[in-house]
Amino acid sequence: MLTSEFNAEEFIKTQIENLRREIKEEKALVAVSGGVDSTTCAALAYKAIKENLICVLIDTGFMRINEPEWVKNILNKPPLNLPIKILNAKENFIKSLIGIKDAEEKRKIFREEFYKVLSDIAKKENCKFLIQGTIAPDWIETKGGIKTQHNVLTQIGIKTEEKYGFTLLEPLVNLYKDQVRIIAKTLNVPKEISERQPFPGPGLMVRCVGEVKEEKLKELKKATKIVEEKLMNKEIQQYFAAILDEEFIEEQFFPELDLNNIEEIKVFKNLATGVKGDERAYGKIAGVKIKEKQRENIWNNFEELISLQSRIISEKKDFTRVLYLIEEKNEGKYAISIRAIKTRDYMTAEVAQIEWETIKKISEEILVNCLDVKEVYYDVTPKPPATIEYE
Ligand code: XMP
Repeated sequence: MLTSEFNAEEFIKTQIENLRREIKEEKALVAVSGGVDSTTCAALAYKAIKENLICVLIDTGFMRINEPEWVKNILNKPPLNLPIKILNAKENFIKSLIGIKDAEEKRKIFREEFYKVLSDIAKKENCKFLIQGTIAPDWIETKGGIKTQHNVLTQIGIKTEEKYGFTLLEPLVNLYKDQVRIIAKTLNVPKEISERQPFPGPGLMVRCVGEVKEEKLKELKKATKIVEEKLMNKEIQQYFAAILDEEFIEEQFFPELDLNNIEEIKVFKNLATGVKGDERAYGKIAGVKIKEKQRENIWNNFEELISLQSRIISEKKDFTRVLYLIEEKNEGKYAISIRAIKTRDYMTAEVAQIEWETIKKISEEILVNCLDVKEVYYDVTPKPPATIEYE
């Protein structure tokens, strides 16, 4: 359905009727993260079944600094008045991910833990149903084999009644993000939520590239705060930080490239997800270091920078990302990559061009505040061949 033909009032009315018909006098559980999709879904469900709805926010440990409390405060009060409770499950997630480096493995473990926690609550609270805010791109990308979205179950043959003891209801399952935002506004979801940039269900886990470690996650949270504060209100649809291990492999680089200004091209040990020819790719990450004097110049020649990225990736088929070094210091175990993209549908995305002063300032602030971070890069890869998130 085209967004222009989309009738929000009608949609809400039909979905409320459907939910009431399915749930009858039973209780249902809804998990809210504070993202647009899950909040809209919860607001809709609360309108439908009121006090028969149990509303939880699972604190996975992968949300931003103070985010669970921030979300709870907004959703608890008018106009939504959602009776939301925070459930601390941080230990479950971090423990189950110890030693796991592979992106898809991490996503599947996250899904498993997430539904184990929900299944326990559903049993305790006697909820026969789980209502969740899965939307169309979630199952399209999962079924297409690009990446496993944690909230896609029935579409890939997982039987929730048998496995978790609840029946799944997904009122938003055929909608796209812009339509969800229209529904959100119609339901009076506060602007801080309805206009928020997307945030993946597994949260910072997919931005903690490779193995998740407590200290690595801590540095990522600090960098996330800096990047979000500085890039807010810049008409960029999504902007965030990712953290990588400052570990590299030996790889010979490219006689074909004009190496004049390039001091070094490093290849990270960590891998990142991409999409090439509509298929999933999981490939290497190049870190390009230009001589310091030339860094700003090359940055201001943004199209050339993007075309350097494109040459690297077409030359080396096993690469999915190119990062451009902004600033570094002498010590640290990690690298931060700043990602900022422009997109309409999140299925493709362009790299956003940001003023040098801003990107330099952000990088300096990260290096000062994140003691374990040695280098700050800017991701210059569009989608495709990269995806928006790293994993
Ligand atoms: P990718 O990385 O696939 O992201 O280019 C496209 C959009 O989807 C978001 N995203 C997710 N959202 N659960 C979500 O709810 C996820 O597992 C997930 N992975 C990616 C991403 O932030 C971007 O907006």
